[in-house]
Amino acid sequence: MKTIIEPFKIKSVEPIRMTTRAERERILAEAGYNLFLVRAEDVLIDYLTDSGTSSMSSEQWAAIMRGDESYAGSRSFFRFEEEVRRVTGFKHIIPTHQGRAAEKILFNVLQKGEDVYLGNTHFDTTRANIEYLGGTAIDLVIPEGLVPAQIHPFKGNIDLVRLEDHLQQHRGQVRAVILTVTNNSGGGQPVSMANIRAAARLAKQHGVLFVLDSCRFAENAWFIKQREEGYREKSVLEISQEMFSYADATTMSAKKDGLANIGGFLACRDDQMARQARNLLILTEGFPTYGGLAGRDLEAIAQGLREVVEEDYLRYRIRSTAYFAEKISAAGVPIIQPPGGHAVYIDAGAMLPHIPAEQYPGQALSNELYLHGGIRSVEIGSVMFGRNDPATGAFQPARLELVRLAIPRRVYTQSHVDYSAEVVNEVYARRRELKGLRIAYQAPFLRHFTARFEPL
Ligand code: F0G
Repeated sequence: MKTIIEPFKIKSVEPIRMTTRAERERILAEAGYNLFLVRAEDVLIDYLTDSGTSSMSSEQWAAIMRGDESYAGSRSFFRFEEEVRRVTGFKHIIPTHQGRAAEKILFNVLQKGEDVYLGNTHFDTTRANIEYLGGTAIDLVIPEGLVPAQIHPFKGNIDLVRLEDHLQQHRGQVRAVILTVTNNSGGGQPVSMANIRAAARLAKQHGVLFVLDSCRFAENAWFIKQREEGYREKSVLEISQEMFSYADATTMSAKKDGLANIGGFLACRDDQMARQARNLLILTEGFPTYGGLAGRDLEAIAQGLREVVEEDYLRYRIRSTAYFAEKISAAGVPIIQPPGGHAVYIDAGAMLPHIPAEQYPGQALSNELYLHGGIRSVEIGSVMFGRNDPATGAFQPARLELVRLAIPRRVYTQSHVDYSAEVVNEVYARRRELKGLRIAYQAPFLRHFTARFEPL
Protein backbone atom coordinates (compact mmCIF):
# COMPACT_ATOMS: atom_id res chain seq x y z
CA MET A 1 0.00 0.00 0.00
CA LYS A 2 1.23 3.48 -0.79
CA THR A 3 -0.70 5.16 2.02
CA ILE A 4 1.19 5.05 5.29
CA ILE A 5 -1.42 5.15 8.03
CA GLU A 6 -1.10 6.33 11.61
CA PRO A 7 -0.03 3.10 13.40
CA PHE A 8 -2.50 3.63 16.25
CA LYS A 9 -6.20 4.13 16.85
CA ILE A 10 -7.55 6.94 18.96
CA LYS A 11 -8.91 6.15 22.41
CA SER A 12 -9.23 9.55 23.98
CA VAL A 13 -9.91 12.79 22.16
CA GLU A 14 -9.49 16.44 23.02
CA PRO A 15 -11.75 18.87 21.11
CA ILE A 16 -10.18 21.80 19.31
CA ARG A 17 -12.10 25.05 19.32
CA MET A 18 -12.98 26.36 15.88
CA THR A 19 -12.51 30.11 15.44
CA THR A 20 -13.25 32.53 12.61
CA ARG A 21 -10.77 34.86 10.96
CA ALA A 22 -12.50 37.84 12.61
CA GLU A 23 -12.04 36.26 16.05
CA ARG A 24 -8.41 35.46 15.32
CA GLU A 25 -7.75 39.02 14.19
CA ARG A 26 -8.99 40.29 17.55
CA ILE A 27 -7.06 37.60 19.50
CA LEU A 28 -3.80 38.30 17.67
CA ALA A 29 -4.11 42.08 18.07
CA GLU A 30 -4.70 41.61 21.82
CA ALA A 31 -1.61 39.37 21.95
CA GLY A 32 0.54 42.12 20.42
CA TYR A 33 0.95 40.10 17.19
CA ASN A 34 3.03 37.55 19.09
CA LEU A 35 1.78 33.95 18.95
CA PHE A 36 3.61 33.09 22.18
CA LEU A 37 1.06 35.35 23.91
CA VAL A 38 -2.00 33.64 22.41
CA ARG A 39 -3.87 31.11 24.56
CA ALA A 40 -3.52 27.52 23.35
CA GLU A 41 -7.31 27.11 23.28
CA ASP A 42 -7.46 29.85 20.63
CA VAL A 43 -5.19 27.79 18.35
CA LEU A 44 -6.61 25.23 15.92
CA ILE A 45 -3.43 23.31 15.09
CA ASP A 46 -0.43 23.92 17.28
CA TYR A 47 2.98 23.51 15.63
CA LEU A 48 4.78 25.75 18.13
CA THR A 49 6.91 22.85 19.31
CA ASP A 50 7.24 19.07 19.34
CA SER A 51 8.54 19.31 22.91
CA GLY A 52 6.36 17.92 25.68
CA THR A 53 3.37 17.87 23.33
CA SER A 54 3.28 14.14 22.46
CA SER A 55 0.19 12.01 22.94
CA MET A 56 0.85 9.23 25.38
CA SER A 57 -0.13 5.64 24.68
CA SER A 58 -2.50 3.51 26.73
CA GLU A 59 0.59 1.64 27.98
CA GLN A 60 2.13 4.91 29.17
CA TRP A 61 -1.06 5.87 31.03
CA ALA A 62 -1.14 2.39 32.56
CA ALA A 63 2.49 2.80 33.63
CA ILE A 64 1.63 6.16 35.17
CA MET A 65 -0.87 4.40 37.46
CA ARG A 66 1.95 2.08 38.56
CA GLY A 67 4.23 5.00 39.42
CA ASP A 68 5.99 4.52 42.75
CA GLU A 69 6.23 7.88 44.51
CA SER A 70 8.77 6.84 47.15
CA TYR A 71 11.33 9.54 47.82
CA ALA A 72 14.32 7.19 47.70
CA GLY A 73 14.86 4.00 45.73
CA SER A 74 11.52 4.12 43.93
CA ARG A 75 10.65 1.10 41.77
CA SER A 76 9.84 3.52 38.94
CA PHE A 77 13.40 4.84 39.02
CA PHE A 78 14.83 1.37 38.51
CA ARG A 79 12.51 0.76 35.59
CA PHE A 80 13.54 4.12 34.10
CA GLU A 81 17.21 3.39 34.68
CA GLU A 82 16.91 -0.02 33.04
CA GLU A 83 15.21 1.36 29.91
CA VAL A 84 17.59 4.30 29.52
CA ARG A 85 20.51 1.90 29.96
CA ARG A 86 19.08 -0.52 27.41
CA VAL A 87 18.97 2.23 24.76
CA THR A 88 22.09 4.21 25.68
CA GLY A 89 24.41 1.74 27.42
CA PHE A 90 25.58 4.35 29.96
CA LYS A 91 26.64 3.30 33.45
CA HIS A 92 25.29 6.34 35.29
CA ILE A 93 21.77 7.59 34.62
CA ILE A 94 20.68 10.77 36.31
CA PRO A 95 17.06 11.93 35.89
CA THR A 96 16.34 15.65 35.47
CA HIS A 97 13.12 17.61 35.04
CA GLN A 98 13.96 18.39 31.41
CA GLY A 99 16.83 18.67 28.94
CA ARG A 100 18.18 22.06 29.97
CA ALA A 101 18.55 20.90 33.59
CA ALA A 102 20.83 18.10 32.39
CA GLU A 103 22.80 20.67 30.37
CA LYS A 104 23.14 23.00 33.33
CA ILE A 105 24.52 20.23 35.54
CA LEU A 106 26.91 18.92 32.87
CA PHE A 107 28.42 22.34 32.10
CA ASN A 108 28.80 23.13 35.78
CA VAL A 109 30.71 19.88 36.27
CA LEU A 110 32.96 20.55 33.24
CA GLN A 111 33.59 24.22 33.97
CA LYS A 112 37.23 25.22 34.47
CA GLY A 113 37.35 28.79 33.09
CA GLU A 114 37.96 29.83 29.46
CA ASP A 115 35.71 26.97 28.45
CA VAL A 116 35.11 26.29 24.76
CA TYR A 117 32.49 23.88 23.37
CA LEU A 118 32.47 22.73 19.75
CA GLY A 119 29.32 21.36 18.13
CA ASN A 120 27.31 21.01 14.93
CA THR A 121 24.76 23.61 16.11
CA HIS A 122 24.27 24.19 19.81
CA PHE A 123 20.57 24.43 20.64
CA ASP A 124 19.55 27.77 22.28
CA THR A 125 19.35 26.36 25.82
CA THR A 126 22.70 24.60 25.39
CA ARG A 127 24.37 27.78 24.16
CA ALA A 128 22.68 29.85 26.88
CA ASN A 129 23.84 27.50 29.65
CA ILE A 130 27.41 27.55 28.30
CA GLU A 131 27.45 31.34 27.95
CA TYR A 132 25.86 31.85 31.36
CA LEU A 133 28.93 30.15 32.87
CA GLY A 134 31.24 32.37 30.82
CA GLY A 135 32.03 29.76 28.17
CA THR A 136 32.00 29.97 24.37
CA ALA A 137 29.91 27.75 22.08
CA ILE A 138 31.13 27.40 18.49
CA ASP A 139 28.89 25.96 15.74
CA LEU A 140 30.69 23.99 13.02
CA VAL A 141 27.95 22.39 10.91
CA ILE A 142 28.97 21.44 7.34
CA PRO A 143 28.46 24.25 4.76
CA GLU A 144 25.56 22.34 3.11
CA GLY A 145 23.74 22.55 6.45
CA LEU A 146 23.51 26.33 6.09
CA VAL A 147 21.88 26.45 2.65
CA PRO A 148 18.10 25.79 2.92
CA ALA A 149 17.52 24.57 -0.66
CA GLN A 150 20.61 22.33 -0.87
CA ILE A 151 19.94 18.61 -0.68
CA HIS A 152 22.31 16.45 1.41
CA PRO A 153 21.43 13.24 3.29
CA PHE A 154 23.12 14.33 6.53
CA LYS A 155 22.91 18.11 6.72
CA GLY A 156 23.41 17.92 10.50
CA ASN A 157 27.00 16.65 10.19
CA ILE A 158 29.80 18.57 11.86
CA ASP A 159 32.59 19.84 9.59
CA LEU A 160 35.43 17.52 10.63
CA VAL A 161 38.19 19.67 9.12
CA ARG A 162 37.07 22.75 11.02
CA LEU A 163 36.51 20.65 14.15
CA GLU A 164 40.13 19.50 14.06
CA ASP A 165 41.34 23.08 13.44
CA HIS A 166 39.37 24.35 16.40
CA LEU A 167 40.53 21.50 18.64
CA GLN A 168 44.10 22.58 17.88
CA GLN A 169 43.45 26.31 18.03
CA HIS A 170 41.73 26.11 21.46
CA ARG A 171 44.00 23.41 22.86
CA GLY A 172 43.49 23.08 26.63
CA GLN A 173 40.23 25.07 26.56
CA VAL A 174 37.84 22.72 24.80
CA ARG A 175 35.69 20.96 27.41
CA ALA A 176 33.56 18.90 25.03
CA VAL A 177 32.53 18.23 21.47
CA ILE A 178 28.71 18.13 21.39
CA LEU A 179 26.73 16.66 18.52
CA THR A 180 23.02 17.47 18.55
CA VAL A 181 20.99 14.64 16.98
CA THR A 182 19.01 15.56 15.03
CA ASN A 183 20.32 19.07 14.50
CA ASN A 184 17.25 21.05 15.61
CA SER A 185 18.51 24.57 14.93
CA GLY A 186 19.70 23.50 11.47
CA GLY A 187 16.27 22.16 10.42
CA GLY A 188 16.00 18.85 12.31
CA GLN A 189 18.64 17.37 10.03
CA PRO A 190 20.32 14.04 10.87
CA VAL A 191 23.97 13.32 11.63
CA SER A 192 25.48 10.21 10.02
CA MET A 193 27.05 7.38 12.01
CA ALA A 194 30.32 7.96 10.14
CA ASN A 195 30.31 11.59 11.27
CA ILE A 196 29.50 10.66 14.90
CA ARG A 197 32.32 8.09 14.86
CA ALA A 198 34.84 10.47 13.31
CA ALA A 199 33.96 13.36 15.64
CA ALA A 200 34.26 11.01 18.63
CA ARG A 201 37.68 9.86 17.41
CA LEU A 202 38.91 13.45 17.03
CA ALA A 203 37.64 14.34 20.50
CA LYS A 204 39.40 11.31 21.97
CA GLN A 205 42.68 12.13 20.17
CA HIS A 206 42.57 15.57 21.77
CA GLY A 207 41.59 14.22 25.20
CA VAL A 208 38.22 15.99 25.05
CA LEU A 209 34.84 14.67 26.17
CA PHE A 210 32.41 13.63 23.42
CA VAL A 211 28.73 14.35 24.19
CA LEU A 212 25.48 13.66 22.34
CA ASP A 213 22.52 16.01 22.80
CA SER A 214 20.17 13.14 22.10
CA CYS A 215 16.64 14.67 22.27
CA ARG A 216 15.72 13.19 18.88
CA PHE A 217 18.02 10.15 18.81
CA ALA A 218 15.37 7.75 17.43
CA GLU A 219 14.57 10.04 14.49
CA ASN A 220 18.30 10.33 13.81
CA ALA A 221 18.70 6.54 13.96
CA TRP A 222 15.81 6.13 11.51
CA PHE A 223 17.51 8.44 9.00
CA ILE A 224 20.76 6.47 9.38
CA LYS A 225 18.83 3.26 8.67
CA GLN A 226 17.30 4.79 5.53
CA ARG A 227 20.27 6.71 4.19
CA GLU A 228 23.57 5.26 5.36
CA GLU A 229 25.31 2.28 3.79
CA GLY A 230 25.36 -0.79 6.03
CA TYR A 231 22.47 0.07 8.38
CA ARG A 232 19.39 -1.07 6.46
CA GLU A 233 19.30 -4.47 8.18
CA LYS A 234 19.98 -3.12 11.67
CA SER A 235 17.16 -2.26 14.07
CA VAL A 236 16.64 1.33 15.24
CA LEU A 237 17.50 0.17 18.74
CA GLU A 238 20.83 -1.28 17.55
CA ILE A 239 21.61 1.88 15.59
CA SER A 240 20.76 4.03 18.62
CA GLN A 241 22.98 1.85 20.83
CA GLU A 242 25.86 2.27 18.38
CA MET A 243 25.38 6.07 18.29
CA PHE A 244 25.57 6.24 22.10
CA SER A 245 28.50 3.81 22.24
CA TYR A 246 30.82 6.52 20.87
CA ALA A 247 29.79 9.10 23.48
CA ASP A 248 31.22 9.74 26.95
CA ALA A 249 27.99 11.40 28.08
CA THR A 250 24.57 12.47 26.84
CA THR A 251 21.99 15.10 27.72
CA MET A 252 18.45 14.24 26.78
CA SER A 253 15.12 15.99 26.82
CA ALA A 254 12.56 13.18 27.19
CA LYS A 255 9.94 15.72 26.03
CA LYS A 256 10.91 14.78 22.46
CA ASP A 257 11.92 11.17 21.74
CA GLY A 258 11.00 10.10 25.28
CA LEU A 259 7.37 10.51 24.13
CA ALA A 260 6.68 12.11 27.50
CA ASN A 261 5.25 15.47 28.50
CA ILE A 262 8.08 16.28 30.91
CA GLY A 263 11.49 14.87 31.87
CA GLY A 264 15.04 14.33 30.79
CA PHE A 265 18.34 12.87 31.90
CA LEU A 266 22.09 13.16 31.99
CA ALA A 267 23.99 9.92 31.47
CA CYS A 268 27.73 9.23 31.51
CA ARG A 269 30.38 6.56 31.99
CA ASP A 270 32.83 8.24 34.36
CA ASP A 271 32.30 7.63 38.11
CA GLN A 272 33.86 10.91 39.22
CA MET A 273 31.75 12.94 36.79
CA ALA A 274 28.59 11.11 37.92
CA ARG A 275 29.40 11.78 41.56
CA GLN A 276 29.80 15.52 40.93
CA ALA A 277 26.65 15.60 38.79
CA ARG A 278 24.59 13.84 41.49
CA ASN A 279 25.83 16.33 44.09
CA LEU A 280 24.58 19.21 41.94
CA LEU A 281 21.38 17.31 41.19
CA ILE A 282 20.53 17.11 44.89
CA LEU A 283 21.08 20.86 45.15
CA THR A 284 18.77 21.90 42.32
CA GLU A 285 16.65 18.98 41.08
CA GLY A 286 16.17 16.38 43.78
CA PHE A 287 17.36 13.06 45.17
CA PRO A 288 19.18 10.94 42.52
CA THR A 289 16.34 8.42 42.19
CA TYR A 290 13.81 11.02 41.07
CA GLY A 291 15.76 14.14 40.03
CA GLY A 292 12.92 16.64 39.68
CA LEU A 293 10.34 14.15 38.41
CA ALA A 294 7.48 12.22 39.94
CA GLY A 295 7.70 8.42 39.91
CA ARG A 296 4.87 8.41 37.37
CA ASP A 297 6.90 10.62 35.00
CA LEU A 298 9.80 8.17 35.17
CA GLU A 299 7.37 5.40 34.21
CA ALA A 300 6.00 7.38 31.25
CA ILE A 301 9.54 7.95 29.95
CA ALA A 302 10.57 4.32 30.44
CA GLN A 303 7.58 3.16 28.41
CA GLY A 304 8.04 5.98 25.86
CA LEU A 305 11.61 4.86 25.17
CA ARG A 306 10.31 1.39 24.27
CA GLU A 307 7.74 2.82 21.86
CA VAL A 308 9.86 5.48 20.17
CA VAL A 309 12.23 2.97 18.56
CA GLU A 310 9.37 0.97 17.03
CA GLU A 311 9.78 1.09 13.27
CA ASP A 312 6.08 1.37 12.39
CA TYR A 313 5.96 4.47 14.55
CA LEU A 314 9.10 6.02 13.04
CA ARG A 315 8.06 5.20 9.47
CA TYR A 316 4.77 7.04 10.03
CA ARG A 317 6.43 9.88 11.95
CA ILE A 318 9.08 10.70 9.36
CA ARG A 319 6.74 10.05 6.42
CA SER A 320 4.13 12.39 7.83
CA THR A 321 6.67 15.23 8.15
CA ALA A 322 7.87 14.56 4.57
CA TYR A 323 4.27 14.42 3.28
CA PHE A 324 3.55 17.88 4.71
CA ALA A 325 6.81 19.21 3.26
CA GLU A 326 6.13 17.72 -0.19
CA LYS A 327 2.62 19.19 -0.35
CA ILE A 328 3.79 22.74 0.26
CA SER A 329 7.02 22.39 -1.67
CA ALA A 330 5.03 21.21 -4.74
CA ALA A 331 3.03 24.46 -4.57
CA GLY A 332 6.29 26.44 -4.68
CA VAL A 333 6.78 27.22 -0.97
CA PRO A 334 10.53 27.43 -0.28
CA ILE A 335 11.50 25.12 2.60
CA ILE A 336 14.61 23.59 4.11
CA GLN A 337 15.32 20.56 1.94
CA PRO A 338 15.20 17.69 2.51
CA PRO A 339 12.66 17.96 5.36
CA GLY A 340 14.01 16.93 8.76
CA GLY A 341 12.43 14.65 11.32
CA HIS A 342 10.33 16.74 13.65
CA ALA A 343 9.47 19.87 11.70
CA VAL A 344 9.00 21.61 8.38
CA TYR A 345 10.91 24.89 8.09
CA ILE A 346 9.64 27.51 5.64
CA ASP A 347 12.25 29.92 4.25
CA ALA A 348 10.25 33.12 4.86
CA GLY A 349 13.14 35.27 3.62
CA ALA A 350 12.94 33.59 0.20
CA MET A 351 9.13 33.53 0.21
CA LEU A 352 8.65 37.21 1.11
CA PRO A 353 11.51 39.10 -0.58
CA HIS A 354 9.44 42.31 -0.45
CA ILE A 355 9.64 42.34 3.38
CA PRO A 356 13.13 43.33 4.58
CA ALA A 357 14.67 41.48 7.55
CA GLU A 358 14.13 44.53 9.82
CA GLN A 359 10.40 44.14 9.21
CA TYR A 360 10.49 40.48 10.28
CA PRO A 361 9.23 38.40 7.33
CA GLY A 362 9.13 35.24 9.49
CA GLN A 363 6.88 36.93 12.04
CA ALA A 364 4.65 38.25 9.24
CA LEU A 365 4.28 34.76 7.77
CA SER A 366 3.78 33.07 11.12
CA ASN A 367 1.02 35.56 12.00
CA GLU A 368 -0.72 35.17 8.66
CA LEU A 369 -0.77 31.35 9.03
CA TYR A 370 -2.62 31.93 12.29
CA LEU A 371 -5.03 34.52 10.87
CA HIS A 372 -5.77 32.46 7.79
CA GLY A 373 -6.14 29.00 9.32
CA GLY A 374 -5.58 29.09 13.09
CA ILE A 375 -2.14 27.46 12.79
CA ARG A 376 0.54 28.33 15.34
CA SER A 377 4.16 28.13 14.20
CA VAL A 378 7.30 29.80 15.47
CA GLU A 379 9.53 32.42 13.88
CA ILE A 380 13.20 31.46 13.88
CA GLY A 381 14.69 34.56 12.33
CA SER A 382 15.45 38.15 13.19
CA VAL A 383 12.87 38.36 15.98
CA MET A 384 14.60 35.46 17.75
CA PHE A 385 18.22 36.06 16.73
CA GLY A 386 18.40 39.58 15.27
CA ARG A 387 19.92 42.35 17.38
CA ASN A 388 20.03 46.09 17.60
CA ASP A 389 23.60 47.11 18.32
CA PRO A 390 23.44 48.68 21.81
CA ALA A 391 25.93 51.41 20.83
CA THR A 392 24.78 52.46 17.37
CA GLY A 393 21.24 51.03 17.33
CA ALA A 394 22.08 49.47 13.95
CA PHE A 395 19.97 46.44 13.02
CA GLN A 396 21.81 43.12 12.69
CA PRO A 397 19.62 40.48 11.03
CA ALA A 398 19.65 36.74 11.74
CA ARG A 399 21.39 34.54 9.18
CA LEU A 400 18.07 33.11 7.94
CA GLU A 401 14.41 34.10 8.26
CA LEU A 402 12.66 30.81 8.98
CA VAL A 403 9.25 29.71 10.23
CA ARG A 404 9.21 26.33 11.97
CA LEU A 405 6.16 24.08 11.97
CA ALA A 406 7.13 21.48 14.59
CA ILE A 407 4.94 18.42 14.61
CA PRO A 408 3.84 16.97 17.96
CA ARG A 409 4.24 13.19 18.11
CA ARG A 410 1.12 11.04 17.53
CA VAL A 411 -1.19 14.07 17.95
CA TYR A 412 -2.42 15.05 14.51
CA THR A 413 -3.81 12.88 11.71
CA GLN A 414 -3.29 13.06 7.97
CA SER A 415 -6.36 15.28 7.53
CA HIS A 416 -4.86 17.78 9.99
CA VAL A 417 -1.73 17.76 7.84
CA ASP A 418 -3.78 18.15 4.63
CA TYR A 419 -5.60 21.11 6.17
CA SER A 420 -2.29 22.65 7.30
CA ALA A 421 -0.77 22.30 3.83
CA GLU A 422 -3.87 23.94 2.35
CA VAL A 423 -3.51 26.89 4.74
CA VAL A 424 0.20 27.30 3.93
CA ASN A 425 -0.43 27.07 0.18
CA GLU A 426 -3.27 29.61 0.24
CA VAL A 427 -1.11 32.05 2.18
CA TYR A 428 1.69 31.42 -0.31
CA ALA A 429 -0.62 32.28 -3.22
CA ARG A 430 -1.33 35.68 -1.59
CA ARG A 431 2.22 36.20 -0.33
CA ARG A 432 2.67 39.59 -2.03
CA GLU A 433 -0.10 41.07 0.13
CA LEU A 434 1.71 40.25 3.40
CA LYS A 435 3.20 43.20 5.28
CA GLY A 436 5.99 43.47 7.83
CA LEU A 437 5.90 44.53 11.49
CA ARG A 438 7.78 46.72 13.90
CA ILE A 439 8.62 45.87 17.50
CA ALA A 440 6.68 48.04 19.96
CA TYR A 441 8.11 46.45 23.12
CA GLN A 442 11.02 44.10 23.76
CA ALA A 443 12.72 42.58 26.81
CA PRO A 444 16.52 42.74 27.09
CA PHE A 445 16.95 38.93 26.73
CA LEU A 446 15.07 36.29 24.69
CA ARG A 447 12.82 39.02 23.33
CA HIS A 448 10.77 36.72 21.08
CA PHE A 449 8.80 35.28 24.02
CA THR A 450 7.30 38.56 25.20
CA ALA A 451 7.80 41.17 22.45
CA ARG A 452 4.80 43.12 21.22
CA PHE A 453 4.52 44.17 17.59
CA GLU A 454 2.63 46.62 15.41
CA PRO A 455 1.78 45.78 11.80
CA LEU A 456 3.20 48.21 9.22
N1 F0G B 1 18.44 20.32 22.97
C1 F0G B 1 17.67 20.38 21.86
C2 F0G B 1 18.24 19.95 20.55
C3 F0G B 1 16.35 20.83 21.95
O1 F0G B 1 15.60 20.86 20.84
C4 F0G B 1 15.84 21.23 23.21
C5 F0G B 1 14.48 21.74 23.32
C6 F0G B 1 16.67 21.13 24.31
C7 F0G B 1 17.96 20.67 24.16
C8 F0G B 1 16.21 21.53 25.69
O2 F0G B 1 15.33 20.61 26.21
O3 F0G B 1 13.21 21.93 26.51
O4 F0G B 1 13.58 19.76 27.70
O5 F0G B 1 14.83 21.77 28.37
N2 F0G B 1 13.80 22.13 22.33
C9 F0G B 1 12.41 22.62 22.32
C10 F0G B 1 12.03 23.04 20.92
C11 F0G B 1 12.13 23.65 23.35
O6 F0G B 1 10.93 23.62 20.75
O7 F0G B 1 12.78 22.78 19.98
P1 F0G B 1 14.18 21.05 27.25
